Amino acid sequence: MTAGARISGSHPSQHPGVAGVAEVRSHFPALERTHLGHPVAYFDGPGGTQVPRGVASAMADYLFHHNANTHWVYPTSIETDAIIAQARETLADFLNATPREIAFGQNMTTLTFHLARALGRGWGPGDEIVVTELDHHANVAPWRALERERGLTVRMARVDEREGILDLDDVARLVGPRTRLVAVGAASNAIGTISDVHAVCALARERGALSFVDAVHYAPHVLVDVQAIGCDFLACSAYKFYGPHIGILFGREPLVAQIDVPKLEPAPDTAPERLETGTLSHESIAGAAAAVDFLASLANGPTRRARLVRAFDEVHDRKRELFARLWEGLRAVRGVTIYGAPPQARRTPTIAFTLRGWTSDAVCRALAERGLFLSSGDFYASTIVRKLGLAEEGLVRAGCAVYTTREEVERLVEGVGALV
Ligand SMILES: Cc1ncc(COP(=O)(O)O)c(C=O)c1O
Repeated sequence: MTAGARISGSHPSQHPGVAGVAEVRSHFPALERTHLGHPVAYFDGPGGTQVPRGVASAMADYLFHHNANTHWVYPTSIETDAIIAQARETLADFLNATPREIAFGQNMTTLTFHLARALGRGWGPGDEIVVTELDHHANVAPWRALERERGLTVRMARVDEREGILDLDDVARLVGPRTRLVAVGAASNAIGTISDVHAVCALARERGALSFVDAVHYAPHVLVDVQAIGCDFLACSAYKFYGPHIGILFGREPLVAQIDVPKLEPAPDTAPERLETGTLSHESIAGAAAAVDFLASLANGPTRRARLVRAFDEVHDRKRELFARLWEGLRAVRGVTIYGAPPQARRTPTIAFTLRGWTSDAVCRALAERGLFLSSGDFYASTIVRKLGLAEEGLVRAGCAVYTTREEVERLVEGVGALV
């Protein structure tokens, strides 16, 4: 969707030039679904969001009209190259990077394994990597694999599980002269805490280490700014911000040009292509760019980045209000325990809770019968979930997205109340 196709309509937001929730919802065909007679309310955004029409049409348009492999001299191939180049520009605007710093891959996990293997080729015994207890294991396992393969040491920074906050003093204690890289999550996909990645990356830089930020759960809620964060690498996944299943990796120039990446000899050696392997999902690349353009289309502004800044500010306020209602509502339900930081803390609108006497799966199954779609388990953030003593029963997780309404939040609170 272009800036010209900006949303306007009968349900304006309180802020002129920014789309209201009813207008936003009109773009998502999935919201028309009913289940057992109930309209479906999707609280499963932290696991993957719904997709607006513009994203699916960009993908269909690519497949129907421009489908080809890259770097040949006939029109569809030339168009494919242009679509990929344009998508790098769009994603660069999304992350405040440059197009040459944007690589695409199957998902965040695959990109991170690939990067870890590349960086690890230069490291060995005596070298150290710092990971955290709060992170999704996609930002732990690839670095742990180097421990086994290369003999280096992985250290794990503590999280205060009562508050759900990363212990920055512990990070500072662990990052020393032998640290080669600090891998940190910007926001916890399990309990929603936002970590001070700016401080962690500054610390890494100060001590001569590289920094890798997992922004998969952060990017849908807070507009990423790799310049302000000061990271060397950052990964996110378009399917968490209304796009298709594809991962995006930012790598700072000129670092990317120097990494010893595993690659086929004839594959391009230029940045960012050297971080990518084989033929990519071109349609997903087109879709990821369309997802960014959809978000930018929610607000007015002179540039795409300016529109994104406004749209995120507005949507952030809206989701914060919904989250506060959800928090207060669930807190009042007997037998509910909520985990993580309260609404006024720096956090995403993702709530994690348990219901006494119920497993997380059973809660979600019962809520699904009311058309309330939520996720359960440890969400691969198994270290923090184990520390919370919930390895067996797991957490119930509900996330607010751009399309979430007050009415849906009220239905969820009522639905949980009805289980007691
Ligand atoms: C915080 C976080 N990091 C990493 C991942 C893995 O992302 P992907 O599925 O793109 O590999 C997820 C997926 O849920 C996540 O929530």
